[in-house]
Amino acid sequence: MCGIIGYTGSENVKDVLLDALELLEYRGYDSAGIAVKDETSHVTNVYKCAGRVSDLRAICDSKKILSACGIGHTRWATHGGVTDQNAHPHQQGKVTLVHNGIIENYRELIADYDLQEILHSETDSEVAAALLNHYYKGDPKEAIKKTVSKLKGTFALVILFEDQPDVIYSIRNVSPIVATICKEGAMLASDLTALCRFTNEYFVVPEYHILELHKDHVVLTDLNDNVVEPEFLSVDWELNSAGKNGYPFYMEKEIMEQPEAIRNTIKDRIVNGLPDFTSDGVPDSLFTDCDRICVVACGTAMHAGLVAQALVKSIVHVQMDVELASEFMYSDPVIDEKTLVIAVSQSGETIDTLEALKYAKRQGAKCLSVINVKGSSIARESDYVLYTAAGPEIAVASTKAYTTQLSVFYLVVAKMALLRGVYTEEQTKSFIAELERVPEVMQKVLEKRRDIHVIAKKILEAKDLFMIGRGLDYSILLEGSLKLKEVSYIHSEAYASGELKHGPIALITTNTPVVATVTQEKLMSKELSNIKEVKSRGADIVLFIKEALSGDLDTEYQVIKLPDMQDEFMVLPASVALQLLAYYVSSDKGFDVDKPRNLAKVVTVE
Ligand code: F6R
Repeated sequence: MCGIIGYTGSENVKDVLLDALELLEYRGYDSAGIAVKDETSHVTNVYKCAGRVSDLRAICDSKKILSACGIGHTRWATHGGVTDQNAHPHQQGKVTLVHNGIIENYRELIADYDLQEILHSETDSEVAAALLNHYYKGDPKEAIKKTVSKLKGTFALVILFEDQPDVIYSIRNVSPIVATICKEGAMLASDLTALCRFTNEYFVVPEYHILELHKDHVVLTDLNDNVVEPEFLSVDWELNSAGKNGYPFYMEKEIMEQPEAIRNTIKDRIVNGLPDFTSDGVPDSLFTDCDRICVVACGTAMHAGLVAQALVKSIVHVQMDVELASEFMYSDPVIDEKTLVIAVSQSGETIDTLEALKYAKRQGAKCLSVINVKGSSIARESDYVLYTAAGPEIAVASTKAYTTQLSVFYLVVAKMALLRGVYTEEQTKSFIAELERVPEVMQKVLEKRRDIHVIAKKILEAKDLFMIGRGLDYSILLEGSLKLKEVSYIHSEAYASGELKHGPIALITTNTPVVATVTQEKLMSKELSNIKEVKSRGADIVLFIKEALSGDLDTEYQVIKLPDMQDEFMVLPASVALQLLAYYVSSDKGFDVDKPRNLAKVVTVE
């Protein structure tokens, strides 16, 4: 969590830092700050505040800031409340730094080095600054080496030393840092979004390596002072794909981008009508040599795993479990070399998912990941990667990452069904042909967005809401419910419809709207009965139903008909409808849709 930027070069440093922080704000938006070296005196000046980057910009705009080098930070508070003092950068003596991660032993360090009296904030990060200053005797690298040898926990540190003009130093453990050098100078950031404006070439700073950024070159060394050549990667994201493109919020833009994102995700993985992972370097044996599959992921990515689980079980008949990554390694999971572990993550940086994957590898499992951000930590840890081609996802609430993850899983299901002889080649081709229809069908749902907006207005005032469905519908409602609660702050719970009578129906009143999806023909009549049960207890019903199943419905329901696909694929159009519902409720309530309270896009603390 937290967004980090560092820049030294020929552009206006204040503007580069503030513009980058605006792009990184989705990583944390409690507080923001920059530290810049004065062009002539080289004194490091810090400007910071609790609040948004726009508040920081207002402070900076009132100052004359001339500088060739600076660092910046957007905060998601872990240690210490949301105050001006706790905002980064932190300054101790000759050291100014920004930090992402958690220094777990900060209390011991305060005691061991007698730091309490000199600290200005309640953060663990300032302790790292104090320690660096303690060890700094004119040699930045020595100070960094000594300091990190004392730190326990995760960190990405970006450091300015008072008497090292125009040079930025950085070191990391687990928390990510990417960097680049281009004609405008050298820069680093917590993620690529901030670098895309300047270049598509970047490298990932390896753990426990010291990076020096100079205006016209970078130096990377290991802790034994050996120079290491950075391994440059390129990102194929369009520069403007990280902007809002005329939409009021990224979330709406990203919902609208889904047909294209799915097309891009599947197109090179379908050869002669069959699923093909050759270009990903994923061998067929990965899917045949396993007895069971285990998905590890968090939040929305975990919900993508639940849909995959339902499909794999019903189509391929292979045991598949979906584990919350945060619980995984503490639950003594049964994992061995015959287990295929699939980590799913948009950012590729979620620490719980990363740790779960590392644990699975230690148990001998083969690890495949489904990731959106190229070169991210989880991707690097995995034996194999299937990248989603969603492009940058900036809104905190995940949308296009989820549906592209689902589309990868459809390819995996088809591949497994074919390899294991469950499907003939003809059946596999027909499954894949249906997958290829998804972008066009999704587009039709997007064209119904005004109708969904009208329905959204009916639930604006709800305090509590239920989402009910059966089978695959239940799997996607878990996600639909998460989406609604995170962006609209309405308390929403998803339930398997058949479970309602075992307790939760007690909560249904005239003030509790119920959102239901009906897309699975074999479950339709039971589901419609469950909907009637809540209707007769006073609930207003919002129903998303597959068009072909929508023959005879209660006229009092608020109905959106979803364009027809084969039942197994209906989760995709239905998910888009649920995303739009959440989006309109949030935007009509006047919330900052892209930055829901208390959240951050990349969760790098456990
Ligand atoms: C919700 C949401 C989160 C993420 C979760 C995992 O809209 O986005 O639940 O899905 O934090 O993040 P990644 O996919 O980056 O591992």
